[in-house]
Amino acid sequence: MLVSMDAEELAARWRERLESWAIPPEIVAAAPADPWSHSPERFGTRTDRALSEPDDGPTMSRLAEALPDQGTLLDVGSGPGAASLPLRGRIGHLYAVDTSAAMLDGLVIRAEKLGVPVTAVEGRWPDVADQVPVVDVTIAAHVVYNVPDLAEFLRALDARTRGRVVLELPHRHPMSWMTPLWQHFHGVSRPVRPIAEDCVALAAALGFAVRVEEREAPLERFTSLEELAASACRRICLDPARAAEVAATAQELGMWPVPRDRWVTVWWE
Ligand SMILES: C[S@@+](CC[C@H](N)C(=O)[O-])C[C@H]1O[C@@H](n2cnc3c(N)ncnc32)[C@H](O)[C@@H]1O
Repeated sequence: MLVSMDAEELAARWRERLESWAIPPEIVAAAPADPWSHSPERFGTRTDRALSEPDDGPTMSRLAEALPDQGTLLDVGSGPGAASLPLRGRIGHLYAVDTSAAMLDGLVIRAEKLGVPVTAVEGRWPDVADQVPVVDVTIAAHVVYNVPDLAEFLRALDARTRGRVVLELPHRHPMSWMTPLWQHFHGVSRPVRPIAEDCVALAAALGFAVRVEEREAPLERFTSLEELAASACRRICLDPARAAEVAATAQELGMWPVPRDRWVTVWWE
């Protein structure tokens, strides 16, 4: 028997599953740094690579074919612009929304160098949705696993878009690769859901005619074992002084090199 769930149930499941990723409070309390924060430097490097090595994968292709020449593009959870600035010559005006001022500063500096007219809006989507106009095309890349109220987030993207909405997300939660390290260092099991299909099911239940394409991530997650260890220390709430131990453990557990993620592109008109 086919059981179909309505959008409300799927939205509640998404929220519960995201909540199941919460780090035990006693571990967070002892953490030397915020385990959830995104580094503007790391995403700046990702953006510079996206600008210097053009990618013809599904996300850029779906955006490029839908964006009218000199059209308006909205990038939600923009970071420094890895998912929008590569379309530089085609963009009439870019609206970038992010909760992080440091990420937006990185985007504005790059946009100005590239000659892309830009408006940066600092704040949480959808709270700040009324600060941007209705645009031709919208992208939200690598954001949905940060968003507990996903139905509200997706509806606001749709309401602010005349043409196509594009999402890009890894197939699994972006912290999934560290599951063996959580077990090893803290004896803590990590969840599996939500996964990309949960987001796709919710978008479809909201009434959007979603299409989906999946591929291997074009970028390695880390370029060295040292980089992995530094990142893992922060994410799993360990002192950075333990980086060598984390690196050795990652090797012993067969976690290096980290297999590439699968990235999923979801879009609707
Ligand atoms: C993983 S980064 C992705 C950045 C960029 N889109 C990319 O693909 O490289 C996620 C970004 O979304 C921002 N963010 C998370 N939730 C948000 C929300 N509800 N509204 C606006 N920005 C959000 C974070 O501050 C961060 O800059």
